[in-house]
Amino acid sequence: MATIVRKNETIQDKDQVKAFLTQKGLVYESYKTPESLDLILGQKGLSDAEKEEVLSGLEYRFDQLKKEHGYKANDLVVLHDEVPGINDMLAKFDKLHIHTDEEVRYIIDGSGIFGFIIDGERFEVHVGKGDFISIPANTNHWFTLDKNLRIKAVRYFKDNSGWTPVYVDESKVLINA
Ligand SMILES: [Fe+2]
Repeated sequence: MATIVRKNETIQDKDQVKAFLTQKGLVYESYKTPESLDLILGQKGLSDAEKEEVLSGLEYRFDQLKKEHGYKANDLVVLHDEVPGINDMLAKFDKLHIHTDEEVRYIIDGSGIFGFIIDGERFEVHVGKGDFISIPANTNHWFTLDKNLRIKAVRYFKDNSGWTPVYVDESKVLINA
């Protein structure tokens, strides 16, 4: 369940979280992961075969999202403290950036933090298991792991070419620093 952290307010109520994010132009849903995947998702790392098993177990969700949003591809990202190059990977996305395609994540294990500057306001969305979020193209955001240093997330794509981050100067988009 996602939590919104604003300058003077924390929002935890599910309906209020969704309303706030919708108003900011983001898509947010909460989708329970199937119990049949609990054992495998409980592992820290996954082999390629296990990743395939997870994606197969979530094929029904992909089918639904294809119909609703037109996604064409998906893959699974597994990050934890023992992944080689984890710090370099995180450093690429923890600075304010945009993409030319939407960034779509379904968190199925662990947790992380998306930060945004939208309408001049900086806020964070702390996401965990079951949270689905879609960040439209050209939306100022960043991502980082929290102290648990562990996440599994399915990425959905319409177009792989939009994946490169385009960095944004914070001082030009922030109204109330
Ligand atoms: Fe991004």
